[in-house]
Amino acid sequence: MKKNIAPSLLAANFFDLSSQMKLLKEGNIEILHLDVMDGMFVPSISFGMPVISSLRKSVDFFFDVHMMVENPERYIEDFYKSGANGITIHFESCKHIDRTISQIKSFGLRSGISINPATPVSFLQNIMSEVDMVLIMSVNPGFGGQKFIPYSIDKIKELSKMRAERNQKFLIQVDGGVDVNNIKSLSDAGVDEFVAGSSVFKGDILNNIKALNDALGEA
Ligand code: DX5
Ligand code: ZN
Repeated sequence: MKKNIAPSLLAANFFDLSSQMKLLKEGNIEILHLDVMDGMFVPSISFGMPVISSLRKSVDFFFDVHMMVENPERYIEDFYKSGANGITIHFESCKHIDRTISQIKSFGLRSGISINPATPVSFLQNIMSEVDMVLIMSVNPGFGGQKFIPYSIDKIKELSKMRAERNQKFLIQVDGGVDVNNIKSLSDAGVDEFVAGSSVFKGDILNNIKALNDALGEA
């Protein structure tokens, strides 16, 4: 199965999104990761529906919306209408995870559940059969450009083992501090999708994508 790099818009220059989207397309990117922050679940505030729906009119990437939002069930329909293709909610942000995952799936969207660095993988043992994707945060969510937390790799290995033992099909995504130095070991640990903010948008975007793909060993 093809492994994908999902650039995180958070690290882009918001003054000129159009030319950066063209470069992502040229670099054969298929997934755009969209970090929505509410200033409550995480300390910072990013962007929301107007930015996503404006982008939707002009680009055809898979829109992977990462909701760092308290009580995300309030906004699932709004993000669906803004053009999301997948929505990931945080285990720590929502009281009724099972219901909210069903809500995401009821719109035909890819459903994702994410855990913070300090949340154990074992907390996902019941919900993992219901989701299309599990996101392991490898930094504390809220900001781009942070350092990868090394124990995240053990969590990914543990999750990957659980997936194999239970013969389940969900994708594993990692987000935070992904770069050319750790992408291969993350892939070997079982990651299918690599969210990358700074390591795509800082500097030369096309060169950065190529370097990440080279390190990953993908064409
Ligand atoms: C952090 C966000 C990430 C962030 C990653 O809360 O969820 O998606 O943009 O940025 P880098 O790749 O710079 O760590
Ligand atoms: Zn993210």
